Parts: sequence; C-alpha cells; structure tokens
Amino acid sequence: MWMLAVALLHSISHVFSEELHASLYFVNASLQEVVFASTTGTLVPCPAAGIPPVTLRWYLATGEEIYDVPGIRHVHPNGTLQIFPFPPSSFNNLIHDNTYYCTAENPSGKIRSQDVHIKAVLREPYTVRVEDQKAMRGNVAVFKCIIPSSVEAYITVVSWEKDTVSLVSGKLLRFSFPAGTGRDVSG
Ligand SMILES: *[C@@H]1O[C@H](CO)[C@@H](O)[C@H](O)[C@H]1NC(C)=O
Ligand SMILES: *[C@@H]1O[C@H](CO)[C@@H](O)[C@H](O)[C@H]1NC(C)=O
Repeated sequence: MWMLAVALLHSISHVFSEELHASLYFVNASLQEVVFASTTGTLVPCPAAGIPPVTLRWYLATGEEIYDVPGIRHVHPNGTLQIFPFPPSSFNNLIHDNTYYCTAENPSGKIRSQDVHIKAVLREPYTVRVEDQKAMRGNVAVFKCIIPSSVEAYITVVSWEKDTVSLVSGKLLRFSFPAGTGRDVSG
C-alpha cells in the first residue's frame, strides 16, 4: 500500500514538474525586419523557441509553408532560415523580398512569431550626383545629394566636400551665401 502511494506520488510529481518546465516563448519579439545584401545572403534564426524541444517551421505571411529551394533558400534543422547569396539576375521577390513568420510547436502548444519582412538589397554599382543651385546673395542655397531610388533607403551620406575639404554630413547641404560676396559656391 505504501509502495503504491509512493509510486503514485512520484509519478504525479514527475508529470507536474514536466508541466512546470514546459514552455513556449519568443526569443526576439523585436525582430520585424531583416535587410541583407544580395552578395552575402542571410541567416535568420526563428524568433520563437520552447522547452521541451520545439519543432520550428517557417511560413510565408500568406500561410504557405515554405519549401527548400536548393542553393537559394533553406531551413536548417535548428530552425534557422537561410537565404543564400545571389546575383541580381536571380532576384525573386517571393524569396528575396517577402514577409515570413515562424512557428514553434511542442506538446505544450504552438506559438507564432510576428511577421518578419526579409528583404535583399541588390549590391549594384551606383552613383550619386548633385545639381547646380542658384541663390540670391544673403540667402541660403540648399544642395541635395541625389541618390538612385533603388538604393536610397540604404545609403547614408557621410560628407560633402568642396575642393576635397570635408564640410558636413547629411543628404542636404545648406550653404549660406554671405551678402556682398559673389563667390561661386557650387559643389
Ligand atoms: C533582435 O532583433 C533585432 C532586430 O533585428 C537585432 O538587432 C537584435 O540583435 C536581436 N536580438 C537578439 C537577442 O537576437
Ligand atoms: C543553425 O544552423 C546553421 C547551419 O548549421 C548555422 O549556420 C546557424 O548558426 C545555426 N543557428 C543557431 C541559432 O544555432
């Protein structure tokens, strides 16, 4: 009788402690966007996890479970989604600019990460330019650094130079044009 009671207690506490330790949680709830260069590719760990070990799956925001595309996209057994480097001619927006999410599932349940936008930036040569501006004496001339729109979001203007002398940083250069001088300030 005692033996049975002890054995019963033991199994109850065993189940109880397993339940206590079972959990599902988010590793990185702030992960909403991954921007990567086409020349490097990217590895995106599933932002959800749990105990006991979870099954991790990636989906497109449309709900389709994603499939491996050899040499292009792969989900590792540890739940990390890999997008391989690719040449600009192989850009495919379904893979290289799409919204994904990941789920983590174990006997205690299932959770879904929030949507993660995974977006490749093509590494292509680009040039920036600046247009001439006219300003009245005593006024301010504003020069804008003109960047091709395909790369604009990822470019930081680090400096403006005049005759190789660095002036300021930022996309706009405000040049005050002192009254009484007739200097050419283009540049
Ligand atoms: C969480 O995601 C943000 C945004 O991508 C990233 O900067 C940060 O390093 C991540 N933190 C962890 C712990 O992975
Ligand atoms: C998952 O596995 C891949 C491939 O082995 C590895 O590159 C990556 O660092 C691993 N990620 C984590 C979070 O362990």
